[in-house]
Amino acid sequence: MATRTPNWGMPPTCHQKIDENLLVTDAGQSRELWEEMGARWAAERELLWAGTRPVSEWLVTRLQARAGETVLELAAGTGDTGFLVAGALGSNGRLLTSDRSHAMLAGARARAAELGVMNVDFLELDSDKLALADECVDAVISRFGYLLKGEAPLAEVRRVLRPGGRLVCAVWAERSRNAWMTVPRAALAAVVGSDEQTGRDLLAGRSLEGVRAAVAGAGFVVAEITELDVAYRFATEAELWAFASELRGPVAVAISELDAGKQAEVRAELERLSPRDASGSYALPGVAIVSLAT
Ligand SMILES: C[S@@+](CC[C@H](N)C(=O)[O-])C[C@H]1O[C@@H](n2cnc3c(N)ncnc32)[C@H](O)[C@@H]1O
Repeated sequence: MATRTPNWGMPPTCHQKIDENLLVTDAGQSRELWEEMGARWAAERELLWAGTRPVSEWLVTRLQARAGETVLELAAGTGDTGFLVAGALGSNGRLLTSDRSHAMLAGARARAAELGVMNVDFLELDSDKLALADECVDAVISRFGYLLKGEAPLAEVRRVLRPGGRLVCAVWAERSRNAWMTVPRAALAAVVGSDEQTGRDLLAGRSLEGVRAAVAGAGFVVAEITELDVAYRFATEAELWAFASELRGPVAVAISELDAGKQAEVRAELERLSPRDASGSYALPGVAIVSLAT
């Protein structure tokens, strides 16, 4: 199976000045951003995984992977969701853990080694144009992997799935239902003085019915679709700050460009804006839309 040869050009860096392009709501598609996040996400894997694991479990339960199958994970990040499937595939099956980011895949490789996952290949693949043959996988799994960014990713999934193949995917509901997105951004905006959203918001109007229509529109039969409530929880102020200032994509990059005084102001604002749960932990909730389709 061929992999696309990556062409990174100059090593990317996000540590220049505050780049408005990284603050736009399309920034999730930025290759540089995800290269920047890769090592950080690997280092803080547990913090991210704890809040979102139920989403992965829903997907894996619905996927019903069988021994000998080939399962492709798209935009896998550090690969944790796919690794839940690997055992069911057995030594004759194959997990293809893919992402466009070299750094994310490095984190995934390290995690697979820790877990002792052997039946896995790591592929640098762009979901918009998969360097894979037609009808070569039994199932595709994608958690928060921009599958609804235009029509290309779902069309590619349809192309590489064998007849009868399954797709399980999770996408975020619209931004206003995801405090983990809006609260760090609001804390930053309160200090830098602007919450201007430029660019196209990929999540604008994102609803269960919209997701169902998009998946069906790509030629799938939607067997099950529902919303899942999730929450990122932080026992300490330090964890909450690590989430916003290191892991939270474009907001983290923008925070890193502020001087220490301004960062302290953002941190105070973040603590003020973040709700706490009954146990006293900070809790930033969100809503995922999860689906099974064939
Ligand atoms: C929000 S993260 C989700 C990662 C992982 N699936 C998870 O649930 O933790 C989005 C991932 O999509 C990857 N990504 C972004 N655009 C991509 C593309 N066009 N093709 C493949 N991967 C892409 C990023 O590198 C990043 O790892």
